[in-house]
Amino acid sequence: MGAQILSPTAANIELAARELLRGELVAIPTETVYGLAGLAFDPAALAKIFATKERPTFDPLICHISTPADQPDWLARLEQCGLVDVGQLKASARHEVQLLLAAFWPGPLTLVLPKQAHVPDLATSGLRTVAVRSPAHPIAQALLQAVGQPLAAPSANRFGRISPTRSNHVLMELGDRINWILEGGDCQIGVESTILFVHPQGGLTLLRPGGIALEAIASRTGLKVTTVPLEAATSDTPAVAPGLLASHYAPRKSLTLMPTLLAKLPKPDRDILFASLPKEAQLGVLFASGNSQELTRRWEADLQTMCPGGRLTALSLSEQGESTEAARNLFAALRALDEDEKIEILWAEPFPSESGLGFAINDRLRRASHR
Ligand code: TXA
Ligand code: MG
Repeated sequence: MGAQILSPTAANIELAARELLRGELVAIPTETVYGLAGLAFDPAALAKIFATKERPTFDPLICHISTPADQPDWLARLEQCGLVDVGQLKASARHEVQLLLAAFWPGPLTLVLPKQAHVPDLATSGLRTVAVRSPAHPIAQALLQAVGQPLAAPSANRFGRISPTRSNHVLMELGDRINWILEGGDCQIGVESTILFVHPQGGLTLLRPGGIALEAIASRTGLKVTTVPLEAATSDTPAVAPGLLASHYAPRKSLTLMPTLLAKLPKPDRDILFASLPKEAQLGVLFASGNSQELTRRWEADLQTMCPGGRLTALSLSEQGESTEAARNLFAALRALDEDEKIEILWAEPFPSESGLGFAINDRLRRASHR
């Protein structure tokens, strides 16, 4: 049986909660990307998540919890949900957690914290830490309330592939492997959560750039985040940051990430690039800014001076080159170019600024282009 897309009525949220509580998986909307959810405390459900995604078990999952309606005591909430051993955090780490969660939860921020002993090893790949987040999407929150316990949820795509930001992306990725997809519209953030490792003695290390920009963390909490890779960091951090593979978010077609904005390439360099293509090249190009139709017209004419039988389809992430809009459109645009049968080769230009969500966008483009 193929997956059924459930409109998010109260009855269907109840249905999804019942399915989860009996150990089934449900694809759910979040503000970042769609997730493939299962009970975080049920090893059989966790095993199903890994099998369904074909995900290696060394890549740990993020556990999602609800945010109570009244002003929550975050440390108590982390402890009470059964995931985090708050007692292992020194006062400065507790203070950091409180500041971060007051500023950004519910929202696209994941914290890696000491875990309670009974959290299944499958959820954490045997690490002594657990990744926790409370998603801002109202349907995800309603479902978490109805389930009444944490849900593990990786992005609802086959391992290594482009993350889904619409229900029909999930249908394409996993439609033949799961029964239920809860509809939640287009994901408003469009890239996954920012992941921070919280050092139990105090101090924060960035594990994955994402929906919350580092500038926002600095301005809203005054906290400093270290961005040196964990491999080079201190001994209380994991030896490796699991799951941060060089190749990820990958389209099926070969994607080349340009070293610079295409408009900044001098004409001779551009001609060399085009000349390296087959004469009948069918090119798809992801631009950081501009109007897709105009870019298609201009760049196809340029391509055809070198490749007379060539065709070019351009997609722009944001007309004004605005990073939050570009992040929202990134995965859908990449997927559209990947699925267009008239396109054989993909190019992308980098996002011109690493500030705001530009950092996360370029991180995804680098991994998507890695071979
Ligand atoms: O926005 C998101 O975070 C989405 C939505 C569905 O919530 N979820 C998501 O999950 O992106 P996933 O499985 O694609 O990313 C999980 C990543 C792992 O690859 C790993 O890098 C990190 O989270 N992670 C999880 N647990 C960890 C741990 N204990 N220590 C270090 N990193 C961890
Ligand atoms: Mg993922």
